[in-house]
Parts: sequence; C-alpha cells; structure tokens
Amino acid sequence: MPSLVVVGMQFGDESKGAVVDYLAEWADLVVRYNGGSNAGHTVVAGGHKYKLHLVPSGSVRGKLGVIGAGVAFDPEVFLEEVQALRERGIEPNLVVSLKASLVMPYHKEIDSLIHGGKLGTTKRGVGPAYQDKMSRITGLKVMDLYDRRRVKDVLSLKAEELEFRGIVKDRDSFIQEMMSLIERWAQALEDYVGDDTLLVNEALSQGKFVVFEGAQGTMLDVDHGTYPFVTSSNPITGGVCTGVGLSPKLIDRILGVSKAYTTRVGAGPFPTELKGDLAAVIRDRGGEYGTTTGRPRRVGWLDLPMLRYSKLVNGVDYLAIRKLDVLAGLERVKVAVSYEIDGQEYRIAPPYVRELEKAEPVYEELDGWEEGDWEEVVRGGWEAQPKGALKYLEFLERELETPVLITGWGPQRELTIPSPRLKDVLREMGVITQ
Ligand code: IMP
Repeated sequence: MPSLVVVGMQFGDESKGAVVDYLAEWADLVVRYNGGSNAGHTVVAGGHKYKLHLVPSGSVRGKLGVIGAGVAFDPEVFLEEVQALRERGIEPNLVVSLKASLVMPYHKEIDSLIHGGKLGTTKRGVGPAYQDKMSRITGLKVMDLYDRRRVKDVLSLKAEELEFRGIVKDRDSFIQEMMSLIERWAQALEDYVGDDTLLVNEALSQGKFVVFEGAQGTMLDVDHGTYPFVTSSNPITGGVCTGVGLSPKLIDRILGVSKAYTTRVGAGPFPTELKGDLAAVIRDRGGEYGTTTGRPRRVGWLDLPMLRYSKLVNGVDYLAIRKLDVLAGLERVKVAVSYEIDGQEYRIAPPYVRELEKAEPVYEELDGWEEGDWEEVVRGGWEAQPKGALKYLEFLERELETPVLITGWGPQRELTIPSPRLKDVLREMGVITQ
C-alpha cells in the first residue's frame, strides 16, 4: 500500500514538481488531487525544462499520471501540455477523472474581470470553475462532455448569468460556440477519461507505489490558509482524500516541501517579507517569477511558525528543503522562530489575516554558507553540503521536530540530494528492498 503525499508547506512554488519528479523514479503512479492550471510545476531534466500546469510531474519519467476528481480541469491547457511533451519525445500515459470539474473559457473571463485584481489570482478560471461546481446547477464535469443534454441546460443558465454580467452579448451564439468546443474536447479526451478512484485504490491494493502531487501550498488552502487571500481548493493532505476518493487510512507518509526561504505571489499577509536590495537579490538568484503568470514573487525569510502550522494541518512526517543554493553567499541568514502579536508569543502561526498582519517575527540569526560547485557537492552526497547549510538543516529539524529527507541545490533533477534516511524510508514503506 505504499503511498506518499508531496505537499506544499508555504504559499506554493516550493518546487514540489522537482521533488515529485525525483521520487517518481520509484513511483508507479503520480496523482494530482487539487487545483488547476493555476499551478506551475517545473521539471528540469535531460537538458530540458518542462513547465507543467495540469499534467502530473511524474509524466516526464513516463510514469502513469492521474488527474483526480478534485482538479479544475482545463482541456485546452491539458491538450497543449500533452502536445508539448510529445514534441519532446514523451508519450504521456494519463488518466483524467470523469469527476473533475471543467474550466470553461468564460471562467477565465470572470477570473480576469472580477477576482484577478483584488486577490491577485492567476486568472486561469480556477476559482469561478469551483464556484460553479459548488453551485451544482451551473457546474460542468468531465463526464458531462458525454452528456450533451446536461451541457445544454447548464449553458442556458450560464448564458443568462453571463449576459447579465455583460460578458455575453448573444446567448444563442454563445451556446453554439461552447457546444462545438465541448464536442471537440469530448473527442480529443476520449482516450484519457476514466475512473480515478477505482484506479488509485486498485493500484494501492496491488502494492503499487503512489505519489500524490499537491498544487499550491498550505497557506493558500481555501479552508485553512490566509482566507480570503487563498486559492479555491484544498492543497493540504486532506485534499487527497476528497480529491481522489481515497480513505485517509491509505495515506502512508507525508513529505512537506519548503524553500529555504519564503515566497508569495499575489496579495495577502506575509510576516517575514523582505523589501529592498536583499529581496531583489534573492528574487533574481531564485528566479522568483511566477511559472504561470510571470509575476515577480514577494520574498522573505523562512517562517517557522508557518511551517509548524503546516506540519500540524498536514501531518508532515518528513521535510524537503529546496533552493538552498539561492541563499549561498550570504554571511548570515535569518529564520523567524516565533511571532509576537499584541504582546503575545506565537510558536504556531494563526492563519488569520488580521493577526498575521500584526505579527512581528522574532528572528534567530545563523551563519550562512558559501557559494559552491553544486554538481560537485551533489556528487559528494549529504555530508558534502556546506557546513553552514548542514547547520541550518539541523536547526530546522530540531525546531520542527521533523527530519529532512531531501534537499535541493538547483532546479535540475541532478541537483537534488537525498539524505541517507531516504532509502530507509523507502525500504520501510516496501518501495525498495535493499
Ligand atoms: P487562483 O488560485 O488563481 O484563484 O489565485 C489565488 C491566489 O493563489 C493568488 O494569490 C495566486 O497568486 C495564488 N496561487 C494560485 N496558484 C498558485 C501556485 O501554483 N503558486 C503560487 N501561488 C499560487
């Protein structure tokens, strides 16, 4: 039954794609359970950079990829991604849940017109698609591609609403246009649609190793993040159960991914945010520009109260700490160990905007680490990492009471370092035998 969830512990963009790609070496299935094409997962392997939004990152290694029921599925983006992989010689093996929600072109328009500005969304239509899902009468699922009568009913309702909002001028031509899109998608997706729940449950009962790939991060969770500055799905571990149709009893281990610092795209509180020169240096060194939107990301020091909260919400067993190379060359690095809010100390972040806006981080300063030849460092293994970085990792392990299993020293697959413990964990899980 080996299963592992790879979950973002911050505001997304923690390099989950790179971690999933690394672990996919051993995986049989990689499953996306939440979000939509608002996510941008980057895999750099074999001299190529793959920017994935919907296709699970394991596909780059040719592993079976499943897009679960909890995903807001944009067929246009999916088909483009499949095509891009094919052009690079990868024939992806993919199953798209019949229960996934469809993102329609009008969802993107609404996202741009209404949600985009205030929340700083990615304008990929994800929020409006989930809104329709929850309304039920205006939601479309992948299964509806094969039920034109229902599609027509939904589109008639939608046409009325969109006309009222001034997005649609002529209802009939809108319905016609959408129906022909549905027809095209139904054909193009025929070979991919299937039952995610049965597939994943069966795979687990056959002893296959399933990796669940989260999109976005814990602090963007619609229920547990910094509401309303959040995404519209559940990136947390619990999202796996609802997003795939899986018992929590079948989740084996949880790997929380964090950068060595913090970033956030879009609006919302950010207690450890840095401004000025240092922020610009980290942003540029880390290539901290949105994969999906190209927007510059806000950057700041690592925030332990947030990571403690994230550990709690997700049940994190192990950590992956990425982008350690970005901080190299700094003489000293800071880590927020607690917050002070209205004269009170908080070791665990309260996920409330009003509190977080007042939070004064209490920092601990640690020695930094020098620049290095990271390929050489990776060849040397865990202990070859710079002394300052090893101390930083030990500090995080102590503070978060969680072992670090994987570190990242650059976006390339080859720049990931497994801790000696990783093999033990895979052995304990029955993924490997020696
Ligand atoms: P939405 O998910 O497009 O509705 O955007 C809501 C918020 O989540 C905005 O602040 C986005 O910048 C943020 N967001 C959505 N997806 C990602 C992601 O994959 N990485 C980082 N931030 C994201």
